[in-house]
Amino acid sequence: MPDYRYLLSEREIPKVWYNVIPDLPSPMSPPLHPGTLQPAGPHDLEAIFPYALIEQEVTAAQNIPIPEPVLDILRLWRPTPLHRALRLEKALGTPAKIFFKNEGVSPAGSHKPNTAIAQAYYNKAAGVKRLTTETGAGQWGSSLALACSVFGMECMVYMVKCSFYQKPHRRTMMETWGAKCVPSPSELTQAGRNILAEDPDTPGSLGIAISEAVEDAATRKDTNYSLGSVLNHVLLHQTIIGQEAIAQMKLAGASPDIVIGCCGGGSNFAGIAFPFVPEKAAGKNIRLIGVEPAACPTMTKGIFAYDFGDKSGMTPLLKMDTLGHDFIPPGIHAGGLRYHGMAPLVSLLHREGIVEAVSYPQLKCFEAARTFARAEGLIVAPETSHAICCVVDEALKAKEEGKEKTILFNLSGHGHFDMAAYEKYFAGELLDYEYPQAKIQEALAHLPKAS
Ligand SMILES: Cc1ncc(COP(=O)(O)O)c(C=O)c1O
Repeated sequence: MPDYRYLLSEREIPKVWYNVIPDLPSPMSPPLHPGTLQPAGPHDLEAIFPYALIEQEVTAAQNIPIPEPVLDILRLWRPTPLHRALRLEKALGTPAKIFFKNEGVSPAGSHKPNTAIAQAYYNKAAGVKRLTTETGAGQWGSSLALACSVFGMECMVYMVKCSFYQKPHRRTMMETWGAKCVPSPSELTQAGRNILAEDPDTPGSLGIAISEAVEDAATRKDTNYSLGSVLNHVLLHQTIIGQEAIAQMKLAGASPDIVIGCCGGGSNFAGIAFPFVPEKAAGKNIRLIGVEPAACPTMTKGIFAYDFGDKSGMTPLLKMDTLGHDFIPPGIHAGGLRYHGMAPLVSLLHREGIVEAVSYPQLKCFEAARTFARAEGLIVAPETSHAICCVVDEALKAKEEGKEKTILFNLSGHGHFDMAAYEKYFAGELLDYEYPQAKIQEALAHLPKAS
């Protein structure tokens, strides 16, 4: 009988992050300054980021050493277990082998502390006293709250309004770690006040919350801004997941044919998938699939273009798959997947055909999460349910074709704070929402005019 779990010791934690930039098939387009639309230099980012992180945005080094104080904290829960989902395989009657990394075992309950700890460390080392950020589902806000508490820093979180009311206990969690959390849009920033004047009942969006957090950081000397996804350095910090997975798959005597992760800004998907890019580039037939919600179909229905990272046009422009920075996705329960853009690195690899993208409606995702919970015992975050939905489809396809595929996916977070969403699903109160093409066209019409 194969094992359920494949474990590495604390001493076997990866000591470097894997940087995909040198392995890209074509060069990345530089970020552009939001005022001039000219390439942004490091000094343009220095108002909100420490130099060490700006350097990680552009470095061509293949491996970046993880500082010892960061490793020391990560070892509190890493390496995370690799599970073989034997009971799910049995429930589906599939010949496929299904493996998953369980990032839900971190203190905040997801993969997000992998980068929060690193970002807080570099900011603290640069003398920064306070960090601001946005959060959707609350996973990122609580991760940064944890990281700031570990390094003795203040933390201010702008939480997307609809999630703030859907998940009050996430706020309490942030407060337990000493952070302040307010619903966004708020009256605390000009960006928030402008949006509230236009639409007092807006559910909020990650794009709006980013505008508030960036404005707060840019207007205070002691404060920097911290982003939970999208940027190159964030994806870099998450590659510890895929590197561990490679070592653990070896222990299991297996190698994945398909690697799957859900995609909000792209960081947990990149974390598990990017370390497999060299194998794919060397000719191994391995599929890397990013899964997004049908209500926010950034890769499957967006375009690859320069766009702002926030609603108010304060951030540098990034060349990425986007639905337009004006796009306000409906208040689906996978709050962490409601972002108009996709990480430039994931977008580029998608456009180059190295990464595939699929989208699923939320009801099918909840159904997959229920199947998973009843087979494996773990109740996952609604974001993660998107990855599981794709795993189930691929496992059933393998069954139909009679093929013994090996599937690896990232269980990006547990769903213990998402019971209200599960309750609504069981009560039949959740709706699917396919974003109308006309609305996407409307948001895309407002893209900034940069080539
Ligand atoms: C559990 C979980 N999974 C996935 C995501 C999506 O983010 P990313 O695409 O950066 O991994 C989030 C974001 O909040 C999350 O909380």
